[in-house]
Amino acid sequence: MKPVAPKIRMGFVGGGEGAFIGQAHRQAAGLDGGFELVCGAFSRDAANNRQTGAALGLAASRCYSDWQRMLDSEAALPADQRMELLVIVTPNHLHAPIAGQALKAGFHVFSEKPAALNLDELLTLKAVVQSSQRLYGLAHTYLGYPMVWQARDMVRSGVIGAVRKVLVEYPQGWLSQDVAAQGNKQAGWRDDPRQSGIGGCIGDIGTHAFSLAEFVADQSIERLCAALGTHVSGRQLDDDAAMLLQMSQGASGVLIASQVCAGEENPLKIRVYGDKGALEWRQEDPASLIHRSVDQPLRVLRSGVGQPWLCEAARQRMRLPAGHPEGYLEAMANLYGDFARAIRGKVEGHDAPGVPGIEIGLRGMAFIEAAIANHRGDAKWTELVCTA
Ligand SMILES: NC(=O)c1ccc[n+]([C@@H]2O[C@H](COP(=O)([O-])OP(=O)(O)OC[C@H]3O[C@@H](n4cnc5c(N)ncnc54)[C@H](O)[C@@H]3O)[C@@H](O)[C@H]2O)c1
Repeated sequence: MKPVAPKIRMGFVGGGEGAFIGQAHRQAAGLDGGFELVCGAFSRDAANNRQTGAALGLAASRCYSDWQRMLDSEAALPADQRMELLVIVTPNHLHAPIAGQALKAGFHVFSEKPAALNLDELLTLKAVVQSSQRLYGLAHTYLGYPMVWQARDMVRSGVIGAVRKVLVEYPQGWLSQDVAAQGNKQAGWRDDPRQSGIGGCIGDIGTHAFSLAEFVADQSIERLCAALGTHVSGRQLDDDAAMLLQMSQGASGVLIASQVCAGEENPLKIRVYGDKGALEWRQEDPASLIHRSVDQPLRVLRSGVGQPWLCEAARQRMRLPAGHPEGYLEAMANLYGDFARAIRGKVEGHDAPGVPGIEIGLRGMAFIEAAIANHRGDAKWTELVCTA
């Protein structure tokens, strides 16, 4: 990945000391040298906010007490000093309000998922994104992995034939006990519908499985039949989900997302079966893509710089020779790299090529709402609806 010069000035909302994903964003943004952190409103806790800013080497004047003040103050700075890109790494309920205000104030936005709390809020944000002439990206990290792009390329070029079956699963174990009651902050807000939205596990990791399935199979999920559950007593939102899928070009699928699979870490996995063969990718071994064929031995394609049999999109997203592991941070860094090139390339419109945008956010929200509606209602199938 070539660094982009000059560096893009970025600010953060969220990601104070003790937070999870903000730190990963900062490390990923720094990996290829395309960004510099110039400001932040990292936490509602004033001491945490100050400490985080100081630890990151920010001047106290660019460490703001809240995000509204940050947007106003940064917009008032000379153009060659002010923040260009706002990164949003707060709990879910703040994503759309902050993104909307930032776009209106003239900043590009890279937001954590989900893009909003519900479909209405997201449609409002979409209108802002479309009228803003600024870039909007969504941190669907797994769509930054090179071998995910390789899998999609092989599906698109017909290597496995017509896609018939998609099996995608994301079983985690970290919420198999009531860790919120033991003070786990991340678990706490994730089970509060005001901060998390109507979905628990389905929104938190189900959306990752969903977007991966649509991306790799290169078709959209049109209808689903879902069973959601809450296994840990006292929890308000779902912690477990399973569903059947019907896809736009005739494939059927199964999606499992669960946070009560005790002992599991992050084994997001997809298998796509066509009439000539199949592909399998697993994020805990992200350098390997398994290719099964009806008339050939199984082969394992491995990522790594200089592998001529990999597609261009995969090769662009690698930094190291085969066997030196690249992983989650590099996948996130690939999204940042594409975002940087789009900002410096003065791309027209609101999509940064290679980076999930507002439409993927909309699909993810339609997925959450359809899954919950189907689970609660009597219909066998529920359509995914991305409009008001
Ligand atoms: N893309 C991924 O793979 C991935 C992984 C984990 C989390 N996430 C998403 O990232 C987001 C954050 O998750 P997390 O696990 O890092 O949560 P977290 O609780 O660890 O961090 C949230 C941060 O936001 C800060 N914050 C809250 N309100 C704020 C405000 N008004 N102003 C400034 N800062 C504020 C908190 O102080 C904290 O620093 C969520 O939306 C989650 O869905 C995405």
